[in-house]
Amino acid sequence: MDGVFSQTWRDVGALDDIPRQGARTVATAIGPVAVFRTLDDSVFALEDSCPHKQGKLSQGIVHGHSVTCPLHNWVIGLADGIAAAPDDGCTKTVPVRLEGRRILLAAGP
Ligand code: FES
Repeated sequence: MDGVFSQTWRDVGALDDIPRQGARTVATAIGPVAVFRTLDDSVFALEDSCPHKQGKLSQGIVHGHSVTCPLHNWVIGLADGIAAAPDDGCTKTVPVRLEGRRILLAAGP
């Protein structure tokens, strides 16, 4: 039996819908969320807004487990949303996981 803290998940598409080192955006209750696929087929999800000046991270360049913002090149960690030094800031992460080749995004508390 699930407890009150169980996470609900929403199927937001297939892994193969996102090119490696690419991203797509998903509309959510907190606004657009960028879902990233890395070269090693990991998936990560971040609010689609850079902590610097709200650049769209979904349009950034994915390298390793980071994304470089398209506006002023801040580097944001995909796992934690934290900007790499010397920059300072944090974007909200959204829980995401793979089930087979389907991408499941946390649908809320
Ligand atoms: S808005 Fe992302 S680096 Fe400036």
